[in-house]
Amino acid sequence: MIRILLASVTVSLLAAAAGAAGAAGAAENRPAVKNYQWGKPLPEQIEIAKLTSDIERGKEAFQGCRGCHKPDAGGILDGTYPRLSGQHASVVIKQVIEVRAGIRSNPKMEPFSSKHALTLQEIADIAVFIESVESNRENGKGSGTALTRGKQLYASGKCALCHGEYGEGIASQAYPVVASQHFGYLVRELEHIQKGTRGNSHPDMVKAIRSYSRQDMEAVADYMSRMPDHRTVAQARPK
Ligand code: HEC
Ligand code: HEC
Repeated sequence: MIRILLASVTVSLLAAAAGAAGAAGAAENRPAVKNYQWGKPLPEQIEIAKLTSDIERGKEAFQGCRGCHKPDAGGILDGTYPRLSGQHASVVIKQVIEVRAGIRSNPKMEPFSSKHALTLQEIADIAVFIESVESNRENGKGSGTALTRGKQLYASGKCALCHGEYGEGIASQAYPVVASQHFGYLVRELEHIQKGTRGNSHPDMVKAIRSYSRQDMEAVADYMSRMPDHRTVAQARPK
């Protein structure tokens, strides 16, 4: 616990320094690391692939995440904390490991996901637990006023190639599920991806949203937030 507190203080100092350095509107997020190569696995990703994971152990280890992501892993309606339930284990692993490596900027979560707080085995277990959870709570949605535009952007912007027609992502590629995610979180991520302050973003996606206005981001995020849980859709789809 002491270690977590210390780490937390350091992180706040770093965040303050980044803010002071003039990251207007993104005081909490550092700029992306240089030379990030999408798809090149980090040493921890190679190590974790050798482990056998367990949902029950993951449920225990997830206790350290519940404060923010909530016990049902459904996050918070306004998107401050994203919904994790049903996300592909491969995505959870990639994102947590890249936060640990300082590649994805996430100052709030760093102390809870650092090497001092979590073992690789715990990450592997938590990832399969998260993938298995269903959250029945409502998710945050947008105004509903630009859904036709959102649908059109999603299809023409090649989003569907990676995130799937139903927002189901592609587990084997670590492309995230975006269906039923909170609107507020989706808009924030699109902004960070466009500005480069998220850190880890597929280069083709950065290109795809380069010219997006704030309205475009809200339209496409609203459309994604209203896609039903991808697992429900998969069951209903003709075989
Ligand atoms: C202090 C609050 C906090 C705690 C505790 C926390 N997180 Fe997070 N987490 C966040 C925030 C905030 C984000 C979104 C960051 C952003 O806006 O980019 C996030 C994002 C994530 C993401 C990325 C989701 C996505 O769709 O890309 C994953 C995966 C994640 N957290 C897993 C965990 C796990 C596993 C734990 C426990 C070991 C944990 N978090 C504990 C605050 C927290
Ligand atoms: C080439 C594949 C690819 C394309 C095309 C793509 N994405 Fe992504 N997207 C990703 C990956 C991979 C991530 C996770 C970030 C990372 O690890 O690079 C992501 C993350 C996201 C996130 C954040 C989700 C989360 O859980 O944090 C949003 C929102 C998003 N994409 C929206 C879009 C939209 C909208 C489009 C179309 C304009 C799009 N993406 C096109 C691969 C893609």
